[in-house]
Amino acid sequence: MKKHLILLGAPGSGKGTQSSRLKSDGLIHVSTGDLLRSEIAKESELGKKVKSVLAAGQLVSDDLVVELLKTNLNLNNNTYIFDGYPRNEKQAKTLDGILEGHDYLAVYFELDLDILIERITNRRTTKDGKHIYNLISNPPKVDGICDVTGEPLIQRNDDKEEIVRERMEVYKNTIDPILEFFRHNDKLATIDAQQSPDQVYKQIIEKL
Ligand code: AP5
Ligand code: MG
Repeated sequence: MKKHLILLGAPGSGKGTQSSRLKSDGLIHVSTGDLLRSEIAKESELGKKVKSVLAAGQLVSDDLVVELLKTNLNLNNNTYIFDGYPRNEKQAKTLDGILEGHDYLAVYFELDLDILIERITNRRTTKDGKHIYNLISNPPKVDGICDVTGEPLIQRNDDKEEIVRERMEVYKNTIDPILEFFRHNDKLATIDAQQSPDQVYKQIIEKL
């Protein structure tokens, strides 16, 4: 049986980029950020509740996110990449409970946080977040257009510099107990996320 993967790392550390690559290994990508943004785009009741929270760079309540996560999981049939969940110690314990009886590995994307503001402010994605570009390191072939789907690329609402700085603060204040939880349970692997996307992917595969 394959292992479920939990990707842990700062905003912009490359979790979404690596998830796109890992999908070709048969894993299913579940990003709580993408799920929340999709609810906002649909203007669902949940979307209306969380819109201002994402726009401020803060975390949505644990209860709302876990419900959204659970409705998108079928653990009997699929192996998942968890991207953006957990975001605090409580969520780490919740996910460990959800995955009881399943093998998993948490992968921590370690890197110098100072490089991330530039990475994120230059990010462009498709509306669903599935195709990720960077104006400097990985631009699309045609300006503003996705190479794969041909749709226009957008900038996420929370990718403005002042919101990115807020998201970084939230991250710094929450990451340590999460790492400690998985380390204590012997489920933590650390990779150097400052290398090229190819090298980062290689490191993840080596840990599996
Ligand atoms: P979420 O969508 O999870 O955002 P995030 O964690 O801030 O992470 P990002 O998506 O910004 O970065 P990434 O690591 O995916 O980087 P990427 O691969 O795109 O969460 C957003 C919001 O939703 C939260 O603030 C919160 O409000 C809410 N939320 C979500 N989950 C929640 C939860 N569980 N509980 C409560 N609230 C929740 O790469 C970034 C850029 O860098 C791209 O341009 C890319 O091309 C480039 N890049 C990637 N890798 C490399 C590399 N190796 N070298 C050079 N450039 C690279
Ligand atoms: Mg992401």
